[in-house]
Amino acid sequence: MLFPLALLAAPLVSGAFVARDVHHEHTAKRALPGTWYQARDHPVHQLFKRGPTTDGIQYAEVGSPTWSAAYPVRTPDVNQMPQAWLDALAKAEQEGKIPNVPQTTNTPQTNPKYPAGHDPMSPEVCSATYKCRIPGDVWDTPDGHFGTGFDDGPEPSSVRLIDFLQENGEDATHFMIGVNILNNPQTFLHAFNSGGDLALHTYTHPYMTTLDNKNIVAQLAWTMEIIHNSTGGRIPRYWRPPYGDYDVRVRAVAREVLGLEVILWNHDTEDWSIASGGTTMQAVNSSMSQWLAGPKSPGLIILEHEHHEQAVQAFIDAFPHVKANGWQMGSVARLAGGSVYQNEDASGNVVPALVAGPIDASQVNSGTSSSTGSSSAPRSSSSSAATTSSGSNTGAAKNGAAAHAPASISAFVASGVLAALAFLAQ
Ligand SMILES: *[C@@H]1O[C@H](CO)[C@@H](O)[C@H](O)[C@H]1NC(C)=O
Ligand SMILES: *[C@@H]1O[C@H](CO)[C@@H](O)[C@H](O)[C@H]1NC(C)=O
Ligand SMILES: [Zn+2]
Repeated sequence: MLFPLALLAAPLVSGAFVARDVHHEHTAKRALPGTWYQARDHPVHQLFKRGPTTDGIQYAEVGSPTWSAAYPVRTPDVNQMPQAWLDALAKAEQEGKIPNVPQTTNTPQTNPKYPAGHDPMSPEVCSATYKCRIPGDVWDTPDGHFGTGFDDGPEPSSVRLIDFLQENGEDATHFMIGVNILNNPQTFLHAFNSGGDLALHTYTHPYMTTLDNKNIVAQLAWTMEIIHNSTGGRIPRYWRPPYGDYDVRVRAVAREVLGLEVILWNHDTEDWSIASGGTTMQAVNSSMSQWLAGPKSPGLIILEHEHHEQAVQAFIDAFPHVKANGWQMGSVARLAGGSVYQNEDASGNVVPALVAGPIDASQVNSGTSSSTGSSSAPRSSSSSAATTSSGSNTGAAKNGAAAHAPASISAFVASGVLAALAFLAQ
């Protein structure tokens, strides 16, 4: 699917592709810096590929016993993490990049609680559970857009959703749970091979503010690892905290250690609770109808799920109304930043070789679309499939971003991303 022209016009006009109006003002006033927040030589690129690019590594076939045996079956044990992940965390802590916010206590039936004296709405804590918005994180899409995304897959109910999206030529972001990938490998591959954009929703879905820094890394990095090793080397760029529970500390661990950025939502149907009687199909229908007929600014990000038939049905019911009300639909991760994977090049190709190789600085240090367009990055000869991977399991048939947007358009979108990242770096 091509990017709608209106979307492409956004960075031209405002210089702010990623996010809300606040970016518009700031990017207009500030000069672009010489370095970006997260250059391609960010240490994250070393964490998921621990050999040289030419090591000829054979990834286990997704769903095979060897593959299954390599990942935690439940909450990951911090004593069994790759040393590289722990070292990266220790380094970020030593460099003072991780704010010292106390962990919360998980209190059933209510929000996680901070110790006395720590205000969740203060900038020093800024907990999204308490509706504090950390500047720069994605809560909205550009005006007129409907950011499509689903949490808690892959599950058996995902199959119908994936097929529906594909039949209708729509893209979506799947915020996946690591253990669900482990338990539903074929559905995982179906989501990926049919063009789904993959993002993280942690390994076992905890309240992230209750965890210490090591456990936060474990929850995120194991999910990145299983996605990376099962998709020919893709490193997801985005994550969504379970229950929307994160604060400046959790955010910094995800971002500084693993290069991850947050996508939240601006509307919640509570579709996840239809099955348990928390809400009804009718109530979801009514909320959806109201929002879809409502104002086009900001664009919509509705929290939706794919782990129950009813939640999937609610989206399928709403779909014609999204169109009828004139929303431009798009995968929410793609709307948020153009690239969905950290090792996606300016043409939208994911290049596994970029994971380990240092990148020519001129490629990332430029703020203009023309220079990012003429990227000097090493390219793999096959544009999207894994060059280092063995089998057909790794998504050789991936109908990825390259197929969705011509190179020049993607490069242009990438320049908008860089402009936005430049703002975030300030
Ligand atoms: C993932 O792949 C890397 C190589 O890129 C390898 O070192 C690592 O052991 C693999 N992880 C698992 C859990 O199989
Ligand atoms: C709400 O339900 C009605 C009746 O089944 C249906 O016609 C309509 O398409 C639904 N709308 C949404 C937004 O799901
Ligand atoms: Zn969830």
